[in-house]
Amino acid sequence: MSVHIARARPGLPLAVDRAAVEPLSAQLVGQLRTAMRDGRLRAGERLPSSRALAGELGVSRTVVTAAYEQLYAEGWLEGRHGSGTFVADVRADVEVDAHVDVRSDGQADVRADVPADLRAGVEGGGHADAHADRPAAEGRVVSPMIDLRPGAPWAGALDTPAWRRAWRLAATVPPVTRPGSYGLPRLRAELANYMRRGRGIGCPAERVLVTRGATNGLDLLAATVVRPGDRVGVEEPGYSDARSVLAARGAKVVPCPVDEHGLIVDALPSDLRLVYTTPSHQYPLGGVLPVPRRQALLAWARRTGALIVEDDYDSEFRYDVAPLPALYGLDPDVVVYLGTTSKSLTRDVGVGWVVARPELIEGMAVRREQLGDRTAVVPQEAVAILLERGDLDRHVRRMRAEYARRRALVVDLLDGFVLRGDTAGLHVVVELPAHVAAQVVGDAARHGVRLDPLERHYAEPAGLSGLVIGYGSERLSALRTGCSLVRESILRPARPPFPAG
Ligand SMILES: Cc1ncc(COP(=O)(O)O)c(C=O)c1O
Repeated sequence: MSVHIARARPGLPLAVDRAAVEPLSAQLVGQLRTAMRDGRLRAGERLPSSRALAGELGVSRTVVTAAYEQLYAEGWLEGRHGSGTFVADVRADVEVDAHVDVRSDGQADVRADVPADLRAGVEGGGHADAHADRPAAEGRVVSPMIDLRPGAPWAGALDTPAWRRAWRLAATVPPVTRPGSYGLPRLRAELANYMRRGRGIGCPAERVLVTRGATNGLDLLAATVVRPGDRVGVEEPGYSDARSVLAARGAKVVPCPVDEHGLIVDALPSDLRLVYTTPSHQYPLGGVLPVPRRQALLAWARRTGALIVEDDYDSEFRYDVAPLPALYGLDPDVVVYLGTTSKSLTRDVGVGWVVARPELIEGMAVRREQLGDRTAVVPQEAVAILLERGDLDRHVRRMRAEYARRRALVVDLLDGFVLRGDTAGLHVVVELPAHVAAQVVGDAARHGVRLDPLERHYAEPAGLSGLVIGYGSERLSALRTGCSLVRESILRPARPPFPAG
């Protein structure tokens, strides 16, 4: 074999081909330059040491050193004395610094040097409700919330030529073709490929039902298989929307405890109709369900006749190792897979999908007709176009680098505290005593920073307390402001719980 492959970091393969005429160092220069140009390697990212990369590629260290020197000379890289080789900020992408002050009336205010786009509330804009208090019209009073609640991605990066082209083309498709309750065939086929590429699932398009998102998929499943009074399991702590959707369909929701690895399979009751779980990245604590527990979970489902609902909401974003393949791939008969573009694009696109065994897909499609439930056709076309052209994969790669930077900043600013689930997704949990968490939430709110208490994710009295900090939807400067404030507030001496005297 003359091709040697290495990774500058997870998700960025580099390869050298000894049989090619181009010198090895030039091959490396070309690949690294392209990765920096198209954003897969972002300003500030650290490259592997020349020794490590040379070892991985099976080339001499001089090859890598020569490549790095060339890129230094071109201004793509910068070295920080004694600390390694970093991607330089060649695009001088000027950061907007939102300075949050507190006015005399206790309301947060933004200093006048914040640009109009931020004042108009267009920064980030990912949370469906979270940013609703940012006025859209210019000239109105500014409510400069920094929103560190979890759930939303960075929608600011979507406005690209590829995104605009997809929506333009989607809108030109004549609206005579009804997609049907299964979804557009073209999109179903693309999603099946996407699953194969990214999640190790080999499923035919017929097993894919297009939905408006993971929650819509869960609702359709519940409407199809749950009878009033059926007991259904939801991870505890877990996704509260999953609980409410299931309860609204008449199910009796049973909290199923998790630990740092995810769902505790041994504690599952044997009389559940289904269990909702997030094995790739437990929401919100962040565990990755280990293989033996995956097998035990599948065995439990086989034994009890229950369905496993796998919500794979943010598996695109892992920063340490490649994610484990989806649980669905291990036993497609007992697992129902929920996918969504809510994290990879934005919730506002309103496109997700379910992968399940054929009769469930059929049952859900029929039920959906009865309920008048459908996914709009233009978003389906747009997502199909983004997938066909590779634009969604490119966007995800770019965002993975971007979120890795944000995550690094948050982890750095919260260094010394107990963090959970910080190697994947768009949020991290900071464990804190309940009274400290409450104090921090209050302090932050007075300074215009919105935080999410961990307790909110429990159906029963909380086992753990702290904060769930989302770093997807705010830019670095706002994250820095918000997390510094959190840090200061945690370290501030506690106030007495009641007014003294
Ligand atoms: C655990 C979990 N699942 C799914 C979603 C997304 O759901 P939907 O696709 O319905 O927007 C979220 C969004 O915050 C989530 O936290």
